[in-house]
Amino acid sequence: MADDLRFPDGFFWGTATSSHQVEGNNKNNQWWAWEQAGGNIKDGTVSGVACDHYNRFAEDFRMSREWGHNAHRFSIEWSRIEPEEGHWDEKEVEHYRRVLESLHESGLVPFVTLHHFTNPVWFEEMGGWTNERAPELLGRFAGYMAEQLGDAVPYWLTINEPPVLPAASYIAGVHPPAKRDFGLAMQAARHILMSLGTMHNAIREKAPHDPKIGPVINMTYAVPASDSEEDKAAARLMDQYWNAYWLDGIRDGVIGAPAGDGEEVPGLKGAWDIVGLNFYSRSVLAAGRGVMGLRQVAPSPDAETSTMGWEVYPEGFYQSMMRLKGYDVPVYITENGIGTDDDEQRISYLVRHFNQVHRAITDGVDVRSYLHWCQQDNFEWAEGFRQKFGLFATEEGTLNRIPKGSAHFFKDVAENNRVPGELVEKYVR
Ligand code: BGC
Repeated sequence: MADDLRFPDGFFWGTATSSHQVEGNNKNNQWWAWEQAGGNIKDGTVSGVACDHYNRFAEDFRMSREWGHNAHRFSIEWSRIEPEEGHWDEKEVEHYRRVLESLHESGLVPFVTLHHFTNPVWFEEMGGWTNERAPELLGRFAGYMAEQLGDAVPYWLTINEPPVLPAASYIAGVHPPAKRDFGLAMQAARHILMSLGTMHNAIREKAPHDPKIGPVINMTYAVPASDSEEDKAAARLMDQYWNAYWLDGIRDGVIGAPAGDGEEVPGLKGAWDIVGLNFYSRSVLAAGRGVMGLRQVAPSPDAETSTMGWEVYPEGFYQSMMRLKGYDVPVYITENGIGTDDDEQRISYLVRHFNQVHRAITDGVDVRSYLHWCQQDNFEWAEGFRQKFGLFATEEGTLNRIPKGSAHFFKDVAENNRVPGELVEKYVR
């Protein structure tokens, strides 16, 4: 029989969400407009009222607490706070103050993301991340939030998944503005990396306490499809763009390949106290045509996949955490989870991924949280509501939160700060 997997004292267990996916009625951002245009969301849905979390946040937080969690990650919707350039909506600031108070009252430690995919329409209209004013504008927003709410925020997460922004919006063209223009993608990648510095420094300057601040990087574990030199080179390129460009960029304070040639960015070097890690899957690369000569190979038919089509590959999670060890900043798992209609698969996925977190901690990685994506089923961007990542289902019509078996399983793990040996035996061995 396998041993229980025990986690360090003070480990954070909870879930993560993002404003546009759960709040509802975020009408001032580029996603809302793009959804209304029609034809852009695979299952034909729109975010609409989403999970109505904007009104139900207090119940959601009580629920998390009752279900054993001690932390929660959410994002502040920039387009609510700054609906027009330079105009701050104080009512919305008050809303997020109540959100933070409610988290504290419920006994959940807040992790606050400042940018999670959505841009105010005015920012999008000026070119969004491709505009060279982006680092200044994002820094200003971050500083304002730190000044307004900083007394209640111990952990700030600046930008969610920097690599996804240029890739999805300007390479694959599956997020608005849905372009396919490598030059624009690289412009965006430069400005996003620079913003990680301006936002960090603005929070540091304006926050009343001494919060921990960092980016949320969704690493992929990039491996070659074969032993050929060409495939290995493709995997290295993927790794450079998706992982190293951001991680080395912050560590060294430079814009490296593919968006720059190593030029220094004042204020960027070491602009992280912590790093958030989102991990979902691995990427298998082969040489071939495609942007930058990258060709991603689909999982083999016998591989376990999610309803997103992503391969389940827990070993890559471990490898990503081990990689982060080299950067010497504490690691917070800010997202991990699976889109599936089979909740038994979710439990199995979770046990196997918890096992890798435990293994990484045993091997010396300073991992301090596991925040599951997501609390409840929600608006999964271009996929719509069809994809189910939640520990709780969101009932159609009533929007009631219905616990799944995985919510029960998660409660047991979180409350006891351990994964029972019998489940390790069942799902890992
Ligand atoms: C994003 C979430 C998204 C999740 C599942 C992450 O890339 O941060 O917003 O819902 O993955 O696709």
